[in-house]
Amino acid sequence: MYTFTNDYSEGAHPKILELMTKYNFEQNTGYGLDRHCEKARELIRDWIDMPSADIHFIPGGTQTNLLVVSSFLRPHQCVISADTGHINVHETGAIEATGHKVVTVAGKDGKLTPESIQSAVDSHVGEHMVKPGMVYISNSTELGTIYTKAELKSIRDCCLKNGLLLYMDGARIGAALTSSINDLFIEELARLVDLFYIGGTKNGALFGEALVICRDDLKEDFRYLMKQRAAMPAKGFVMGMQFEVLMRDGLYLELAEHANAMAKEVADIFREKGYGFYAPPCTNQVFPILPDGLARKLMSQFGCQEIARIDERNTCIRFVTSWATRPESIGYLRAYLSGLTA
Ligand SMILES: Cc1ncc(COP(=O)(O)O)c(C=O)c1O
Repeated sequence: MYTFTNDYSEGAHPKILELMTKYNFEQNTGYGLDRHCEKARELIRDWIDMPSADIHFIPGGTQTNLLVVSSFLRPHQCVISADTGHINVHETGAIEATGHKVVTVAGKDGKLTPESIQSAVDSHVGEHMVKPGMVYISNSTELGTIYTKAELKSIRDCCLKNGLLLYMDGARIGAALTSSINDLFIEELARLVDLFYIGGTKNGALFGEALVICRDDLKEDFRYLMKQRAAMPAKGFVMGMQFEVLMRDGLYLELAEHANAMAKEVADIFREKGYGFYAPPCTNQVFPILPDGLARKLMSQFGCQEIARIDERNTCIRFVTSWATRPESIGYLRAYLSGLTA
């Protein structure tokens, strides 16, 4: 059975395993100070065209998010997120466990707008309430949508006006950058946010995220903060090796492009059958709205998750494709669906 459950169901891209095998007996310096991490940092700085960026490798996304929020907010400050944001829905209160409240506003297709951010700022006044200090967005979002350059700029302006840090969760930044509707280059993106991460776990790595700190005044002592939050593994070189491979010869974007192309085929299958979508498909997550019976069959056959009950007869389920999804699996989905809907 092939599942469309997630984009971290497979191991790692073979080129990563090859490099890891090649250097398996090499001895490395610990805690991210080895030559592979250095090389990966150099490649990332080149890619984003920001020689001054600080880059840290962290094993997981939740860990990165809680580390960022807890490091850069003062104790009384909160982070603003879309109601659908990963830190709000899927992190088991990890952010709140650091003492910082997640203040949510209604998202539009999973995205924040300057108006929604401003409303959160305006409704938090005085010292009897938490004070907004950071905006959290993800690109792509939980609904697979992406921020345009204009949208990100307007959020940036709103953050500047209100003295808020802007943090982008890039667990699926590859999918966002290679979307056919994307108009944002990574060099621009890096200049519009204060910090962001480049997700490895969901784009061909065994695990690992590369946190990029763009803003100078956030850089000091960050390694201390990582270590204190248990986010600095001794074998940091394992992440360095993986990003070294992903960042070479455009592999990172190539893998994301493949996942998006597979997702487009999934979306086309449903579109051709006349079904609509919960959010416009443009990256590697597709959210068709289907009659309940069909949704149930597809969930059990392909491991899809239920996302929302739309009305008394229809359900939205999620299909996720990955760097490793094979065209044959899409063909199988097409044939299976045709069999059910013929
Ligand atoms: C946007 C986003 N951020 C963060 C995470 C959390 O990553 P992890 O499960 O590695 O903690 C995920 C994982 O699904 C995600 O989709």
